[in-house]
Amino acid sequence: MEEKILVTGGAGFIGSHSTEALLSCGYKVRIIDNFSSGDRDNLPAHANLEIIEGDIREPQSLRRAMSGVTKCLHLAAQVSVAHSVEEPCDSAENNIMGTLRVLEAARDHGVARVVYASSAAVYGEPENLPLTEAARLSPLSPYGLEKWVNERYASLFKELHGLSSLGLRYFNVYGPRQSPTSPYAGVITRFVDRLRVGQAPTIYGDGKQTRDFIYVADVARFNVLALFADQNGVCNVASQCSTSLLQLVEALQFGLGSHVSPHLNEPRGEDIRHSLGSAERLVDWLGEAPLYTLDEGLEAYLADMKLAR
Ligand SMILES: NC(=O)c1ccc[n+]([C@@H]2O[C@H](COP(=O)([O-])OP(=O)(O)OC[C@H]3O[C@@H](n4cnc5c(N)ncnc54)[C@H](O)[C@@H]3O)[C@@H](O)[C@H]2O)c1
Repeated sequence: MEEKILVTGGAGFIGSHSTEALLSCGYKVRIIDNFSSGDRDNLPAHANLEIIEGDIREPQSLRRAMSGVTKCLHLAAQVSVAHSVEEPCDSAENNIMGTLRVLEAARDHGVARVVYASSAAVYGEPENLPLTEAARLSPLSPYGLEKWVNERYASLFKELHGLSSLGLRYFNVYGPRQSPTSPYAGVITRFVDRLRVGQAPTIYGDGKQTRDFIYVADVARFNVLALFADQNGVCNVASQCSTSLLQLVEALQFGLGSHVSPHLNEPRGEDIRHSLGSAERLVDWLGEAPLYTLDEGLEAYLADMKLAR
């Protein structure tokens, strides 16, 4: 049967790169997006791409989007951790009820598999590093809890209805088209925005806090692989490389030919100190490792922005 993939949130950062990856593999792609944070300009004009402007919380739009689809990549979400703290009901309506409606519609339309965006936010403050999928889950925000609830629903749908699914716990994804306000790797976009005009980027704390950055082209490739794999459950999407914010600034200074030093501000209470994901299951289940080192990913990112020196 000819594959037709529905990408929810396809006009967003990860969604648009994933859509391009699917199109370049020759698949038909349909996206549904309400354009709340995504942008039509993120998407190419392509004969195999169909765009539905609609909301996943709205059953009629979702039914239309799901009809005739073989597999679904579910990325649509409200992605602001701060918003989930301020307006937990609104956030849960989008992130829990939205996902539940996607799972239900997938079941009702006989969709073979759903790959959905979970997040490293399900872990909270880590006990041990690198974080494996078996680590204790202790989310620090409604957003993280919503992603965890989605994982439980997906697992229940497998048991109750036989719906195959894989939840991908993305770590800090970065690359072209990311909003500087993104809670994940927006820090990279923000640092670039400052350094390119000769201004000091601001680091909250001593800069020795570490993150696991993964380039969006790798993530898009893993999303495609996950749609055609057969494992069920959850899997980290991480580089398993630890980078401090000071190292990040250094790499960007080099890439941009800038010598401006960062400005160190008071630490923010809500930030976790270290985050690092194990990529063991990712490589085992999806058969490939991340291709981009941080330096290569930053180079590709700056080249895309026409900023590389
Ligand atoms: N970027 C990261 O580092 C990261 C890390 C962990 C998890 N995630 C998850 O990955 C997914 C994609 O994130 P992103 O960084 O590309 O964010 P994004 O904001 O660029 O993409 C989300 C897309 O979903 C759309 N959308 C939101 N609510 C919708 C709704 N109700 N109906 C239809 N469309 C809707 C938005 O318009 C946007 O195009 C999200 O589920 C996010 O929680 C991202």
